[in-house]
Amino acid sequence: MTALAEAFDQDTIHRIERLGIQSDWNCLEIGSGVGTIAHWLATQCPHGEVIATDLDTSLIPEEGRPSNLQVITHDVTVDAFPEGSFNLICSRFVFEHLIDRDAMLAKVVRWLAPGGWLLLEDTGPFPFDSSPNPLYRRVSKAIMAVATKRMGSDYEWSRSFPAQLRANGLIHTGVHASSHGVGGTPMGRAWRLTAEHIAADLDEQFGITAADLATFANQVEDPSFDDLCIASVAAWGQRPTLREYLKTLKPPTRVPQGN
Ligand SMILES: C[S@@+](CC[C@H](N)C(=O)[O-])C[C@H]1O[C@@H](n2cnc3c(N)ncnc32)[C@H](O)[C@@H]1O
Repeated sequence: MTALAEAFDQDTIHRIERLGIQSDWNCLEIGSGVGTIAHWLATQCPHGEVIATDLDTSLIPEEGRPSNLQVITHDVTVDAFPEGSFNLICSRFVFEHLIDRDAMLAKVVRWLAPGGWLLLEDTGPFPFDSSPNPLYRRVSKAIMAVATKRMGSDYEWSRSFPAQLRANGLIHTGVHASSHGVGGTPMGRAWRLTAEHIAADLDEQFGITAADLATFANQVEDPSFDDLCIASVAAWGQRPTLREYLKTLKPPTRVPQGN
């Protein structure tokens, strides 16, 4: 997970900066993993509180943890926060794994304060379809298929961003996708580790042999190998303030006066 964070943290940070992060914001990161984004949020919001949640918080280091960063074990599908608590809620590569992701999104939107922002980032597998490297394309698509089968993940969910956010009443919505090269990069390392972790399934379900996997590993660790990996598809949107909400209401219809 560290390699994944290394590959995508700059994208996430850039996206949050563009939302206009303020020093007094209260922020929530759902499914923090190794906690690097929550840690960064805490340094950006010294006058606010930052909460990092995960099912397993053991990967978030205690050493050097800012005093305004609280780390809690929390299952977004079961546990809750009070309505209107946060100026920013972000979550990366988590919602795609939740079985009832649409209902979870509706629940999480209610935790936003009026004017608060939601930033969701989930996987887009589309860079693989057009890969010019047959083995890389085959192994990469097999990785996505195994992960889908193992965890019930939906990697197509992000393809219709940000409609899901608008459907939940968020405004000023936007969408952006980024993808990184694999040749000798943190993304390449993360992708190799993922493949090695599920090597038995790749072999059993897709006939990807140890020799195939070794070639794949050499490719993604080779700085002269050019290809793209998964995209991070980001959607953001803002909970309307009362003023903005009133603007969305239709003007009252005038009842014609009888003569
Ligand atoms: C693929 S990792 C992504 C970690 C981190 N957000 C990142 O992008 O580096 C998914 C994370 O979501 C967490 N997670 C999965 N289901 C969750 C749930 N129901 N509630 C909270 N966290 C969850 C997992 O424990 C894991 O740390």
